[in-house]
Amino acid sequence: MPHALNTRQMNPAFDLTGRTAIITGSSTGNGRAIAISLAQAGADIVGVDLHAGQPKGFEEGEPHTHDLVRESYGVKSTFIQGDVTREETWEEVKAAALQLTGRIDILVNNAGILGKVGPLHEATLAQWQLVMNVNVNAVFLGVRAVIPTMLAQEAREGGCRGSIITIASNAAHHGAPEKAPYCASKGALVAMNRALAVDYGRQGIKCVTVSPGIIATALNATELADPTKCQNYRSQTPWPRFGRVDEVGSAVLFLSSDASDYCNGSDFSMDAGYNIA
Ligand SMILES: NC(=O)c1ccc[n+]([C@@H]2O[C@H](COP(=O)([O-])OP(=O)(O)OC[C@H]3O[C@@H](n4cnc5c(N)ncnc54)[C@H](O)[C@@H]3O)[C@@H](O)[C@H]2O)c1
Repeated sequence: MPHALNTRQMNPAFDLTGRTAIITGSSTGNGRAIAISLAQAGADIVGVDLHAGQPKGFEEGEPHTHDLVRESYGVKSTFIQGDVTREETWEEVKAAALQLTGRIDILVNNAGILGKVGPLHEATLAQWQLVMNVNVNAVFLGVRAVIPTMLAQEAREGGCRGSIITIASNAAHHGAPEKAPYCASKGALVAMNRALAVDYGRQGIKCVTVSPGIIATALNATELADPTKCQNYRSQTPWPRFGRVDEVGSAVLFLSSDASDYCNGSDFSMDAGYNIA
C-alpha cells in the first residue's frame, strides 16, 4: 500500500511559540525585521529603542513594530523607549519581559550605530566613545541583565536554556575604509561572543554573532546614496547585490531556534561572499 503524503508543515525546530525575545533597536531597520521574523514564528516580543512611534523614513500610517507584531501574529508584545547604554533601561527591559511572560529565552543585541566616518586621526575621543558605548558597552549590559534569568530556566531537549544573538558586521572581519571605530566595536563583539560561548555553553546558553554585509537601512543611507561606493562594493561581491532586512530576520530566526543549537560560539557570515572573495 503506498504511503500517504504528509501534509506540508514548518520544521518544528523553528517554532518559537512560548518563547520570549528581547530585541534592541526594534523600531526600524534590522531590528524591526528581526522582531517580525521571530513573532511570525510565535515568539513574544520585548522591543527597546531610543525612538518610539513612527519609525524614521516610514510611510505615514506604518504601524510601530510593537503594534504590528501583536496585531499580525497574535503574540504578546511590549515596548520600552530607552537608551540601551543605560543600566536603568536594562532594569526596565528585564522587568517588562518578566511581567509579560515570566521568561527570557532570546536576547538579540541589535541596536548599533556607524558613528562618524572618516580618518581615525580626525576623530574626537567623544566620537570614539559613543560608538564603543552603543555597540559594545550596551551589549555587556544586556548580556549581564538576562543571563541570571536564562540560567534559572529549565533546559529544553537540546540542552538550551537561552540564546544570545549579537549583530556584529562583516566590518569585524575586514578593514572597512574610514570606519575604524565601527570595525573595532564589531570586532570586539565577535571576540566577546567566543568568550561567552565558552563561559556559558556548558550551562546551556547559546551565544552567536551575525555578521551581515551591506543591508539597505538608515544606518548606511549616506553610503548607499553614493553610486561609486555602491558600484565598488558590488564589483567586489560574488553575489552582487545588497542584503535585505528580512534576510537578517530569517538568519536570526534560525539562530534563535532549536534548529541551531549546535552552533554555539559561531559567527554567522551573511555578506554574499564579500569577505571570502
Ligand atoms: N545596515 C547594514 O548594512 C548593517 C550591516 C552590518 C551590521 N549592521 C548592524 O545591524 C544593527 C542594526 O542596524 P540597522 O542597519 O538596522 O540600523 P538602523 O539605524 O536602521 O537601526 C538602528 C536602531 O537602533 C536604535 N538605537 C541606536 N542607538 C540606540 C541606543 N543607544 N539605545 C536604543 N536604541 C538605539 C535606533 O533608534 C534604530 O531604531 C547594528 O548593530 C548595525 O551595526 C548593519
